[in-house]
Amino acid sequence: MHDATPTPLSVAASGPLTGTAPVPGDKSISHRSLMLSALAVGTSRVTGLLEGEDVLATAAAMRAMGAVIERGGDGMWTIDGVGVGGLLQPATALEMGNSGTSTRLLMGLVSSHAITATFTGDASLSKRPMGRVIEPLSRMGAEFTASPGGRLPLMLRGIVPAVPIDYTLPVASAQVKSAILLAGLNTPGITRVVEPVPTRDHSERMLTGFGAKLTVEETPAGRVIELHGEAELQPQTIIVPGDPSSAAFPVVAALLVPGSHVTITNVGLNPTRAALFDVLRAMGGDITFENRREVGGEPVADLVVRASTLTGIDVDPAVAPAMIDEFPVLFVAAALAQGRTVTRGLEELRVKESDRITTMAEGLRAIGARVEETEDGLIIDGTGGDLLPGGGTVEAKLDHRIAMSFVVAGLVSRDPVTIDDMAPVATSFPTFTTLLRGLGASL
Ligand code: S3P
Repeated sequence: MHDATPTPLSVAASGPLTGTAPVPGDKSISHRSLMLSALAVGTSRVTGLLEGEDVLATAAAMRAMGAVIERGGDGMWTIDGVGVGGLLQPATALEMGNSGTSTRLLMGLVSSHAITATFTGDASLSKRPMGRVIEPLSRMGAEFTASPGGRLPLMLRGIVPAVPIDYTLPVASAQVKSAILLAGLNTPGITRVVEPVPTRDHSERMLTGFGAKLTVEETPAGRVIELHGEAELQPQTIIVPGDPSSAAFPVVAALLVPGSHVTITNVGLNPTRAALFDVLRAMGGDITFENRREVGGEPVADLVVRASTLTGIDVDPAVAPAMIDEFPVLFVAAALAQGRTVTRGLEELRVKESDRITTMAEGLRAIGARVEETEDGLIIDGTGGDLLPGGGTVEAKLDHRIAMSFVVAGLVSRDPVTIDDMAPVATSFPTFTTLLRGLGASL
């Protein structure tokens, strides 16, 4: 999808950011709302859906397998589902673009249907490991012909009936957990997943909301999730809350740009997602939560953020799963903090849309930050609030969160920072530059 002409952007130091802005819908919840609606019997309605390329790839795939999905002029999406077990053979390959979530979750869904499907993706997605889902889904009976290293493009032959498994996650991954649970929907008996380290629980919440029989138990071995298969899902009306992973960028920008005072509204604060805001507060960030409420079964608040002097911190690796996508922008915050920030236990960052440890280390060095790369994290010595030197060009490596992180860095750099390609931002946050401009950034 993003192998075409790059879209560079140069970002210069900014005056204060002010005003109020809502962030777009949560990407994880948007994917799941389309998938589960497509498996319900009847018509579901979704508002607040993230209309980014990743979610649109999921919508296209569900359409290709028989669901009728339409967007109304009012931004409400309607989905006529085919029922669990009712997915149809797609006529062509499922094009996943840049989206690991679409790929891994849909591999789960297809595994327990009588479907043979080919999954393809862009240059970034084609480098990412799929073995982590191929392994458990093979145990359930699905068959795979993958590219070397267990990568895309791959062909998957699903099976009916699939075999229920009892599986302990070897990596803390909500995508792997969700792939198995989604495969379990059309599998007889009980599919059991144990997660020693808790990861985002949107699948569990939403499966329950759609009427699946699912239990979650905290045990000494971790969270045990049991799903009763051959489920019948009831159509739902879903409101997707705003994405904390997107809110992260304007929140960090407002903390760093002197004199800023912004309100970011409708931010999802599911405890399996929101650790960044706690870490930023522990660094001295002035963030308050107002108007706490529930939206679509998820906790939500408006975040009021004032520019702050941050202090470096030793980030507890235990919080990593609850802010796994937020480390790139945390590294930018650390580069402006007083003193040293140490992060560890972040091996998973190496298999995201890019190797986010190396990509961030190289990019931050290119704009004059002091960074040491370790095997599983970064050690960053901040400027103590002074502007970064800037002046460099950074490579986004087809990674939306890298591109956005360096836009934030450019807002607090002496000389402009050039991002080589902003196109990937359209996967998760198509309104990113518009939102920042609305808060006063001149991009
Ligand atoms: C996601 C899970 C995480 C996250 C990704 C979205 C999800 O990936 O990084 O952006 O929606 O389940 P992993 O499961 O690979 O950690």
